[in-house]
Amino acid sequence: MEQDKYLESLLSIRDYIRLCYSQMMQHKVHLGHGHVNAIDEARQLVFAALYLPWTTDESMLDAKLLTSEKQRILAFMARRIQGREPLPYITHEAWFMQLPFYVDTRVLIPRSPIAQLIEHEFSPFLRPGAVERVLDLCTGSGCIGIACAYVFENAVVDIADISSSALEVAKINIDKHEMQEQVTLIESDLFANISQQYDLIVSNPPYVDCSDLQLMPAEYQHEPALALGSGSDGLDLCKKILAQASDYLADDGLLVVEVGNSEVHLMEQYPQVPFTWVDLAEGGNGVFIINAVDLKQHRALFS
Ligand SMILES: C[S@@+](CC[C@H](N)C(=O)[O-])C[C@H]1O[C@@H](n2cnc3c(N)ncnc32)[C@H](O)[C@@H]1O
Repeated sequence: MEQDKYLESLLSIRDYIRLCYSQMMQHKVHLGHGHVNAIDEARQLVFAALYLPWTTDESMLDAKLLTSEKQRILAFMARRIQGREPLPYITHEAWFMQLPFYVDTRVLIPRSPIAQLIEHEFSPFLRPGAVERVLDLCTGSGCIGIACAYVFENAVVDIADISSSALEVAKINIDKHEMQEQVTLIESDLFANISQQYDLIVSNPPYVDCSDLQLMPAEYQHEPALALGSGSDGLDLCKKILAQASDYLADDGLLVVEVGNSEVHLMEQYPQVPFTWVDLAEGGNGVFIINAVDLKQHRALFS
């Protein structure tokens, strides 16, 4: 009763952002799906519940809310704070390389630091000249492949995943970005259904190792299990990619893979392999690059 009265006394958008922020702090929600601080996330949650874009002007903050609007904000808050759902699954929107992507629980929420490399067209690692073919292996929502299609606008981009339900989401994003001519979906267990050679293969495969998997906050349990774990050292899929990728790369092609914290296991197990670990200026870790020649030379190590 007292709680109802308190909620009735909250009138403005600003009041609800403050309430949401306090509750997120009190309940120690985990941030890691698009926001680095709770105030920004609280603001986005409230705006999304009101159908307002996140760019909405500050002058709107003191606007008074209808009861139905308050109820919608409270419902979003219950899902986010008590239910521990990551906000992009509630709003069905995630941003990658400043581009919006539709998401739901069929796909991992886009957050790969590979976005920083795409933005710079993989410079200085990629050889000069036109990029004609790109493969995004383990594509999920399609974010990496679609972002590549924006920067390499003359390239043909294939995006592949083993999960047909992830590919349904990727299809929504191909349509959303009107990339039907440039981007093709392939249902494939790694390279099983791949038949081309590429200038660039980019992959953010599942790579979480067993110990990290057990420590992950509740928010990650909403993401597909198939998108996270990959054996005890997190490298089961990565090793298969390393063993096979040179068959699908042009002679001067490049393989780019994210392995996150499993970087330590890869370096420990293959000290002789010349991986280039990318220095990610805007944050993130565990992204390596290796060229087709070095891959071919060391492929036997991974089989
Ligand atoms: C970490 S998620 C990455 C999604 C997306 N690339 C991104 O960066 O947001 C890994 C993806 O790999 C897919 N996957 C898992 N095993 C696979 C396999 N054997 N072959 C192809 N895709 C696989 C999962 O379905 C999931 O969509």
